[in-house]
Amino acid sequence: MRFHVMTLFPEMILQGLNTSIIGKAIQKKAIEVEAINIRDYTTEKHGQVDDYPYGGGAGMVMQAEPIYRAWESIVTRLGKSPKVIYMTPQGSVFHQEMAKEFAQEEDLIILCGHYEGVDERVLDKIVTHHVSIGDYVLTGGELPAMVMIDCISRMVKGVLSNEKSAESESFQEGLLEYPQYTRPEEFMGMRVPEVLLSGHHANIEQWRREQALKRTQERRPDLLPDIE
Ligand code: ADE
Repeated sequence: MRFHVMTLFPEMILQGLNTSIIGKAIQKKAIEVEAINIRDYTTEKHGQVDDYPYGGGAGMVMQAEPIYRAWESIVTRLGKSPKVIYMTPQGSVFHQEMAKEFAQEEDLIILCGHYEGVDERVLDKIVTHHVSIGDYVLTGGELPAMVMIDCISRMVKGVLSNEKSAESESFQEGLLEYPQYTRPEEFMGMRVPEVLLSGHHANIEQWRREQALKRTQERRPDLLPDIE
């Protein structure tokens, strides 16, 4: 799977995804991430990519032309026109099912906005999906793009060493994950639940299921109507 990120801050994307599991996935070519610098596609002097909003108002608006030209260069190079996701607080809120669907794609183009917004005309022309990572406003689309790439990548074959863990973690099956413990058996007077030391797999399975349900009821009751 290949991610093509259009941004004014390519180093933020590349450095941010260079570490840990996603960094390893890039090294072993399970995924590819390229950052396309929108500024490379401006035809204006001094590398300008933004301008004042028509009608007035605060802040600057990213111009249509350099974004369009950056997109065009990706599409021409690939010889096809992948989905284009625009990161915006005005989009549909990202969730696990969306990640699963995007993980089926061979290529994804992600557009990161900045300043007060992006000229609507280029969005109308190239964007297929408007996506938000939550109901709060960030200074740009780069962190949201990284959040999405991380989440989608872990659904891509070969990214996690243990294939099962992508399936069984929080939000799969509509439940939060059960609590986990590791050595030592006792920490500050608190013991690991006995059942986990029993070696009885069916009991452990049942205990984990109960804990997942209890935790979901306590912390995210809004998730529960979705499961039988
Ligand atoms: N850009 C700024 N805030 C954002 C958000 N919450 N989600 C996606 N993109 C954004």
